[in-house]
Amino acid sequence: MKTTEQSAGSEPGLAAIGMAPSDIGIVGLGVMGANLALNLSDQAYRLSVYNRTGAVTAEFIATHGQGRAIAVADNLQQLVSQLASPRVILLMVTAGRAVEAVIEQLQPWLAPGDILIDGGNSNYQDTDRRWRTLAARGLHFVGMGVSGGEDGARFGPSLMPGGAAAAWPVIRDMFQAIAARVDGIPCCQWLGEGGAGHYVKMIHNGIEYGDMQLIAEVCHLMQHALGLSHDEMADRFAAWNGGRLESYLIEITARLLRQRDHDGGPLVERILDVAGSKGTGVWTAQDALDNAVPLTLIGEAVHARMLSARKSERVAAAALLGSVPTLVPEAERAACLEALHDALYAAKLVSYTQGFMLMQAAAEKNGWALPFGDIALLWRAGCIIRSRFLADIRNSFERQPVPPSLLQDPFFAAEVKNAEAGWRRAVMLAVGHGIAAPALSSALSFYDGYRCAYGSANIIQAQRDFFGAHTYQRVDRDETAHFHTRWLGDGGEEKLS
Ligand code: 6PG
Repeated sequence: MKTTEQSAGSEPGLAAIGMAPSDIGIVGLGVMGANLALNLSDQAYRLSVYNRTGAVTAEFIATHGQGRAIAVADNLQQLVSQLASPRVILLMVTAGRAVEAVIEQLQPWLAPGDILIDGGNSNYQDTDRRWRTLAARGLHFVGMGVSGGEDGARFGPSLMPGGAAAAWPVIRDMFQAIAARVDGIPCCQWLGEGGAGHYVKMIHNGIEYGDMQLIAEVCHLMQHALGLSHDEMADRFAAWNGGRLESYLIEITARLLRQRDHDGGPLVERILDVAGSKGTGVWTAQDALDNAVPLTLIGEAVHARMLSARKSERVAAAALLGSVPTLVPEAERAACLEALHDALYAAKLVSYTQGFMLMQAAAEKNGWALPFGDIALLWRAGCIIRSRFLADIRNSFERQPVPPSLLQDPFFAAEVKNAEAGWRRAVMLAVGHGIAAPALSSALSFYDGYRCAYGSANIIQAQRDFFGAHTYQRVDRDETAHFHTRWLGDGGEEKLS
């Protein structure tokens, strides 16, 4: 690695051509990189941009470069030479090998104190490793979750930075300036060291999977149990978006249900029922298993996407096992729609409860002081899961920064009790009509298990002790004492130390 002076001198910088050095370099001009670049440029930051395929850079400059302080770099060395010190470089390349390769190629030209920011959907464990490796070389590595899709990147994303704390004072103003805002507060707050930022983004994506699955299940029930047309479904989602379910995903669902195909039929009916995925939902579910956190709803959402992928097998099974579900009588439809609303709301609450539970476990394991209230705030706007509901979650964390769980917050406890009857009715509707609703129903099972002071695990413990002498604890003795019963012998009990 070269010193600042050496690397600055190895390529003629912008000063040589009478231009001020750039505030930030951006590597990768795909949709997200290009839109973040324009957003930064709108805030009067000077940029240098580089894309591996030069034609993409040329197109970007031809379309957007007019009147903007954007310098083009032909290679990474030149990009580095164009930047003010300490250099700030934002990588907007595909997670995985591409990130690794760009970091490798950049390193020879960087100096201690320079800042590298990975804005892709990288696995937080990769980010943690890169943060450590680069720190040993004096470089500050930041893993920053970016959410909000194309429009968010262009006009105000939710940003989830974490990594080298020394980088934050340098990059804070820049990224808070381009982020979405809630009541003037930017949706971009520091989340902690190492992979904390990408971890929080991973949880965001897991919750996104859960929200999407819940909405999909409700659509399916509306259509196949209640017999609603797509326009009627759209009307219902639009109405719900004016209430406690107000959120980006509910809003776009109303819009996409109204979209017509060229022959006038609903477009969604022509879309293949196989869900894609880029991996962050699976990572979330895996992480929950690793941390022994019952993240059931997101797990079901991941499994539902996997089941959707078995299209030909499902088609064959439908011919063999399927039956056409009957519709509920017209007179019951209005009440069923209310029930679906309440079920969606209550199950969503369970999903967020589980997501925050997982973040608490990860924070303890990794030594992160995750700011839960700030996380709710920075998801309040800009990102895919943005919703009114997140303001209530933020308020809950203001009341109690680390509650045992959101379901034990007085506000949410009252909310879920209010919704409970409708939720049960919606799940019974699904079960009775043979319509899969794994997220709605697993959330209800979690809720019933969670609010059960004496559950069914006593039977499991007895079985374990019966076949494997794995021992059990007793409710009427000190919990540190373990017992084994001679189930097949004289039935006597032994106390084990
Ligand atoms: C966001 C999204 C985004 C994600 C897509 C696709 O926050 O803007 O989470 O990062 O890549 O939603 O994810 P899947 O392909 O896994 O559904």
